[in-house]
Amino acid sequence: MSASDELTQRASGCGVIPTLVIEDVNNAVPLAQALRDGGLTVLEITLRTPVALQAIQQIRQALPDLWVGAGTVLDERAAEAAHAAGAQFLVSPGYTTALGDYCRSKQIALMPGVASASEIMAALADGYDFLKCFPAAVLGGARWLDAMRGPFPDVRFCPTGGISAVDARAYLSLPNVLCIGGSWVTPAAAVHAKDWTHITALARQACEARDST
Ligand code: 3PG
Repeated sequence: MSASDELTQRASGCGVIPTLVIEDVNNAVPLAQALRDGGLTVLEITLRTPVALQAIQQIRQALPDLWVGAGTVLDERAAEAAHAAGAQFLVSPGYTTALGDYCRSKQIALMPGVASASEIMAALADGYDFLKCFPAAVLGGARWLDAMRGPFPDVRFCPTGGISAVDARAYLSLPNVLCIGGSWVTPAAAVHAKDWTHITALARQACEARDST
């Protein structure tokens, strides 16, 4: 199976991909464990903190049954570093052909971000048809995704950005949405307080939303 087929399959099976911003590397494994306990098995660690790569390494090592990706991948250098740290897929907020070509040449699964029809066309032209829609809520949420079904019937999306427990189900029920992503399952206050029970409960709630659509 190709890297991108595996990404599509895993994302679709998981339904909800939590977006993690890890400030303290000591929280990485307990946080991932809490999400797994709640039923979420595909995680995105954003490369927005100095310990992000270390967090990916630690989670891969401690919890090998999870599928761990790197988010906020802005260029080929970041892609290379994330892949070397053990990231099994990459997520970028936007798309460049340079990043797309790099990932394809290395057989690294990439979910590029798009926010317009032109960006979808650019990603599609390079062979990417499973795309992050970002920032979903600002773009128009379900209405934006629905509008893209006409010109792009074969594109599948993972909307992220501004999604909450309240609207998760509405996004998940859209025919062109394979999965959704976001940070609402890992609130900074709960992570800071190491309230893993609360995070497991939020993950479980997200799984219930997925299972009810
Ligand atoms: C991101 O890349 O920042 C994700 O889309 C998360 O967005 P959120 O924090 O609004 O859920």
